[in-house]
Amino acid sequence: MLEQINFTTKSILEKTNQFKPQVGIILGTGLGGLVKEIAAEFVLPYQDIPHFPVSTVEGHSGKLIFGELGGKKVMAMQGRFHFYEGYNMQEITFPVRVMKALGVHTLCVSNASGGMNPTFEIGEIMIINDHINLFPTNPLIGKNYPELGPRFPDMSEAYDKKLIASALQIAKTHQIKVSQGCYAGLTGPCFETPAEYRYISRIGADAVGMSTVPEVIVAKHSGMRVFGISIITDLGVEGKIVEVTHEEVQHIAATAEPKMSLIVKEVIKQL
Ligand code: HPA
Repeated sequence: MLEQINFTTKSILEKTNQFKPQVGIILGTGLGGLVKEIAAEFVLPYQDIPHFPVSTVEGHSGKLIFGELGGKKVMAMQGRFHFYEGYNMQEITFPVRVMKALGVHTLCVSNASGGMNPTFEIGEIMIINDHINLFPTNPLIGKNYPELGPRFPDMSEAYDKKLIASALQIAKTHQIKVSQGCYAGLTGPCFETPAEYRYISRIGADAVGMSTVPEVIVAKHSGMRVFGISIITDLGVEGKIVEVTHEEVQHIAATAEPKMSLIVKEVIKQL
């Protein structure tokens, strides 16, 4: 793994004229439009990056974008890898390892999720303040490389409190309604049954989705600060559960996208 990380990092540095990003962004559902705001200097399709998986799901095209956003040097993943696509945890999180090796100290992630908190509305933005790993595994299982991080990493503040405070202030200034909550990450690809939503809600999650948790675990393992933001695209609240489709999720996410992008951009500016 160390060799692969070093090889990929070296290859990227050569292709980007030694560009050294400070902030990593995973442009999940709902943050795709942020790409337009990045003053891109280099764009590398995943297929041109050694050891990078190529993403398969509709609506997630695969490129690494290097450039400037909010006065910071950023690298953004347009398209992430999901467990339900068949990748293993190491493959899903490999780009985060490479980000760290390139110099990234702060990771911003976004996703779409189903809301289970009864106060939530469709289209609402939730700042992630904690998570529950409901994947049947963990990206850190296996040999630990002390060069990458500790065997037993602390997760007492997975989502940086200062960045959350900064996002809440930004939302207030721009009159954007946001809430805070805990994100449960599980495999998918099925959306949940009513009983599953009830279960996930009762164990303490406010929203549920099929991503983010693996990348955040690896980011924390490697010592990064993390900011996470989610768009509630459907409700897993008793009495409000209706059929969910990927298209509907994409559509709702697209409507909230400008607000999400603004918050992320301003958080990065204030770093
Ligand atoms: N469940 C899981 N993943 C999701 C959902 C959901 O309801 N909405 C968007 N992604």
